[in-house]
Amino acid sequence: MIQKIKSGIYYINIRDWDRRLFDELIPLPNGTSYNAYVIKGSEKTALIDTSDPVKREEFIENLKSLNLSLDFVISQHAEQDHSGLLPETLKLFPEAKLVTNKKCQSFLKELLLIPETRFWIIEDGQEISLGNKTLKFIFTPWAHWPETFCTYLREDKILFSCDLFGSHYATSKVFVEENEIYLPAKRYYAEIMMPFRKTIIKNLAKIESLDIGIIAPSHGPIYANPKFIVNAYKNWSSEDVTNKVVIPYVSMHGSTEKMINFFIERLMGKGVDVEPFNLSKTDLGELAMSLVDTATIVLGAPMVLAGPHPLAVYAAYLVGILKPKAKFASVIGSYGWGGRLVETLKELMSSFKGEFLEPVLAKGYPKKGDYTNLEKLAEAIALRHREINILK
Ligand code: FEO
Repeated sequence: MIQKIKSGIYYINIRDWDRRLFDELIPLPNGTSYNAYVIKGSEKTALIDTSDPVKREEFIENLKSLNLSLDFVISQHAEQDHSGLLPETLKLFPEAKLVTNKKCQSFLKELLLIPETRFWIIEDGQEISLGNKTLKFIFTPWAHWPETFCTYLREDKILFSCDLFGSHYATSKVFVEENEIYLPAKRYYAEIMMPFRKTIIKNLAKIESLDIGIIAPSHGPIYANPKFIVNAYKNWSSEDVTNKVVIPYVSMHGSTEKMINFFIERLMGKGVDVEPFNLSKTDLGELAMSLVDTATIVLGAPMVLAGPHPLAVYAAYLVGILKPKAKFASVIGSYGWGGRLVETLKELMSSFKGEFLEPVLAKGYPKKGDYTNLEKLAEAIALRHREINILK
C-alpha cells in the first residue's frame, strides 16, 4: 500500500502480516513489513530500497501505480528483503541509476548479478539533488552488514534508516505510539543489531549531528518522535546493565530444574531480578530481548552423552554470537557420570569477556552440598551487582 507522508514523499509499505520466521531463525510474532520510499523532487525522482521478492507482485503494482519515472534507485543495504526486487525495478526503469556505495555494489553484483553499468557509486557524506529536495548519504556500517547506510532528506528532515531503528511489526498504522513499538523495536535490536553494539554507538553519534524530524526505517512503522528510538538505542547499546539474571535452562529428569528453582528463590531473596527461560518452550526472540541489558547470564543444563543438552548448546551459541553486554556468567547443571559440560558451554560463549563465576554441577539429584554451592553462587552474583551499583 502507498501512503503519502509529506508532499512528494511516498511510503510503499508492503506488510507481511503472517510471516513467522526471518532468516529461517528469528521468530516474528507480529509479522513484518518491507518499506520502500519514493521521493519526488521538482526535477528528479528517487526510490529508496525495494521489497522482499516474496512480495514481488504487490511491490511492482504499487510502484507502477505512482505513474512516475525514476532517475535514481537508492540501495541502502544489499540484503534481499530490501534489494531482492532491484533487478526487476531496474528493468522497469532502464534510465535509472542505481545509487549505492562501493561495498554494497560488490554485494549486489554477487547476489543479484546487477551489471556494473547501472551503478552510481557514492561516498560518505555525498549529496544528490532532486531539485527542491536534497539527499545526503550517511554511511552507518555494520547496521547490520558492512555496507549499510542511511539517507537524509535535508529539506523535510527525514532520515531513511533502512534496518537501523526497524521493527518486525506489521501494522495498518503509519505512526504508532511509543509504548506500542518499544518492545518490538527492542526485540529487533536484540536479534539484529546487538552483535554490533560498538559500531551502533559510533553510528548514533554520527546521525546525532543531523536535525531529524522523522525516522523512516525499512521495517515497521515510522517514528514521528525520533528522540524516543534514538534514546532507546543509546540505552541498549551503552554499557549500562540492570540488576537481573537471565537463566536459559533445560532439564530432562528434573535435577537441573530443581537446582534452577532453588537458585531463583535465593536470587529473589537477595533483591536480584530473575528472568528464566525454559529452552524447550521459549521463544528465542524473548530470550534475545532479555539479554539486551542483563548484568548476568546463568545457563542451566544437564549432560547428554558427553556434553551439555543440545538446547543449552544452542542457547550458549546464541549468547556467543549475539554478544550481550552482560558482566557476569556461570553454569548450573547435573550429570550422571562426567563429560565436558561447562567447558563446552564456555567455548560456545567465547565472545563473553566478563567474569565467569564458579559453576555448580550436581551428580544426579541435587544434594545438600549442591544447594550450599547454589547459595554461594547467588551470593556472589548479589555481591557483584552491589559492586557495580545496580543492587542497593
Ligand atoms: Fe531488513 Fe538486513 O535486512
